[in-house]
Amino acid sequence: MKFFIDTANLQQIEEAQALGVLDGVTTNPSLMAKEGITGRDNILKHYVDICNIVEGDVSAEVIATDFEGMIREGEELAELHEQIVVKVPMIKDGVKAIKYFTDKGIRTNCTLVFSVGQALLAAKAGATYVSPFIGRLDDISTDGLNLIAEIRQVYDNYNFATEILAASVRHTMHVIDCAKIGADVMTGPLSSITGLLKHPLTDIGLEKFLEDYKKGNS
Ligand code: E4P
Repeated sequence: MKFFIDTANLQQIEEAQALGVLDGVTTNPSLMAKEGITGRDNILKHYVDICNIVEGDVSAEVIATDFEGMIREGEELAELHEQIVVKVPMIKDGVKAIKYFTDKGIRTNCTLVFSVGQALLAAKAGATYVSPFIGRLDDISTDGLNLIAEIRQVYDNYNFATEILAASVRHTMHVIDCAKIGADVMTGPLSSITGLLKHPLTDIGLEKFLEDYKKGNS
């Protein structure tokens, strides 16, 4: 399973990259705003800065919601860097735009997916990634992980090439459960990756090894 980090914070991206397990980055307009990145030029520059830190795919989201606008923005984003994947919302014009980008060889991430039907449409249009938001479904008492499992089944039935990018991951158990289900990618905060490190028996065991080493070598 690929690990993406879901942030526009350069320090956190650097930290995840330094760990050696990072495969890419996802961003969205809210995450950019959270870092105080505003204005088209600054936003475009920020995407390039992110691409220069990581080796993998970097999702950059269009703001337009009409077909022509999405095409215009998506082509500009794709031109920025070869690692850019154009993030397109799951709306009617978005599906048309994904098909257009697919035909032009521009990679896409279909975002704001909350149902199997939406995921099926994204795959039919040729999306590189589909992003079902599991945390936001959990927030409204709906089983987000079940959606990942259902999409996995449908995609496997037809050998769709679209990768399932489990998004809106909030914590380590989301990551582990997505891995069990067979999501291709997960994107979450840095804590959802570094949290996987933690086990008290590792800490206790290491402390004992070091203590015994000191005893034998003093
Ligand atoms: C996906 O690409 C989105 O950026 C993201 O995962 C949304 O997560 P949230 O529900 O925690 O905002």
